[in-house]
Amino acid sequence: MNTYSVKEVLSTDLLHKDVIVNGWVRSYRSNRFIALNDGSTINNIQCVVNFEEFDDELLKQINTGAALKISGTLVESQGKGQQVEIQVKEIFVHGGADPDTYPIQPKKHSLEFLRSKAHLRVRTNTFAAIMRVRSALSFAIHLYFQKNGFHYVHTPVITGSDAEGAGEMFRVSTLDMKNTPLTEDGEVDYSEDFFGKETHLTVSGQLEGEAYAMGLGKIYTFGPTFRAENSNTSRHLSEFWMIEPEVAFNDLDANMDLAEDFIKEVINYALENCKDDLEFLQQRLLDEEKSKPAAERSDMPLIEKLKFVSENTFKRVSYTEAIDILRNSKPNKKKKFKYLIDEWGADLQSEHERYLVEKHFKCPVILFDYPAQIKAFYMRLNEDEKTVRAMDVLFPGIGEIVGGSQREERLDVLKEKIKALNLSEEELWWYLELRKFGSATHSGFGLGFERLVLFTTGMGNIRDVIPFPRTPQNAEF
Ligand code: 4AD
Ligand code: MG
Repeated sequence: MNTYSVKEVLSTDLLHKDVIVNGWVRSYRSNRFIALNDGSTINNIQCVVNFEEFDDELLKQINTGAALKISGTLVESQGKGQQVEIQVKEIFVHGGADPDTYPIQPKKHSLEFLRSKAHLRVRTNTFAAIMRVRSALSFAIHLYFQKNGFHYVHTPVITGSDAEGAGEMFRVSTLDMKNTPLTEDGEVDYSEDFFGKETHLTVSGQLEGEAYAMGLGKIYTFGPTFRAENSNTSRHLSEFWMIEPEVAFNDLDANMDLAEDFIKEVINYALENCKDDLEFLQQRLLDEEKSKPAAERSDMPLIEKLKFVSENTFKRVSYTEAIDILRNSKPNKKKKFKYLIDEWGADLQSEHERYLVEKHFKCPVILFDYPAQIKAFYMRLNEDEKTVRAMDVLFPGIGEIVGGSQREERLDVLKEKIKALNLSEEELWWYLELRKFGSATHSGFGLGFERLVLFTTGMGNIRDVIPFPRTPQNAEF
């Protein structure tokens, strides 16, 4: 007798054969029907137990959550809801799950409750579906870049540079801060520290990615990044995964083309390869929305929305045009945004971004040519000397999903910028050398992986699309 996954016994022609399946009990009805799942698919295999043939002590251990090995014959199902089922011959209990203490029961648990059980929530249909989609999307990302001649680069997690210059970094140190003598200027003396200098967890692999693009041509990173920003929102994590392609000789237009093509293709991959999971997640959303007032329901079911995004052109709009639109719009009954955009140069808040995408253009938007003063030091200054070649891709229900730019390739202009922003030229010495030796136009962007998973699964909170979320005051698991 061979062992198969639940997906295999449900989908291949094993009818009338004897099979072995391992998995966890999702439910056990009428002392007779075990719904078994092993994570291979959203669907359970129904295992029919003739309880008269089994020992009472054994049957008592079959509870929701128990891990079982089941042997039996795969037969056509008599009941509704499934085509095949296993007529059980033998049951081995790998491990039981006491129904009085096992927290995941066959009923609807709130997402908040399940967050407090992050080690067990993947045993629910919803989280198993999300995590399978997450896995498929990461594969699709590698596939896209590898197919298109990009090289995968591993950039460091521990770094001495603040890539975004935003000061939102977690310090990495072996110093005992309470007992570390300060320098004459009252600063911490990092020469005594493990690396002999101040180091942090990376906020972005971009700067190192740029170095590699200026040799390998087309590269991408895909790794964890860390931000100590105190944003307790449904779109921010303190530890998230970012994909950062960087391409030598690409300007901003080529960068926008790449971002659009890339996002569409990975979403398309999920549509083609995660059908069952997306249908399940879509139904989950539709059920949830039944209890909401009509005005709050989304106008498109999940799969239709994914198709819409993967088939339609993203609208490209300059920051200046966007500001004009926002100034002349009446977003709600009060006809006002919470944060008013009075002056050219103001940073857009997520309410503005979402208004542009969801109400005004009704499609994904790429905003470009932002004011220099609200963007990072490395972005290429435009001829107007006021704006930089930056771009953000904005998505419905999400806001910013991608941030990127054409990079400043001129040594003198970059040095001026570093000085003006009070950044350290000494620390960025190697980054500046990239402009001294064989400098060229290049550009890239960062896609927040969890925001992509959020969009693709239709979930509402970023904490529900990463296995063990880290947010301010929360790193329990
Ligand atoms: O816009 P950001 O900060 O850009 C960069 O880090 C650039 N160095 C990228 C590049 O050009 N190579 O971040 C990029 C994306 C955002 O658009 C967002 O999707 C995501 O990363 N992101 C976060 N996702 C979850 N939690 C957070 N705290 C995030 N901060 C940024
Ligand atoms: Mg950004």
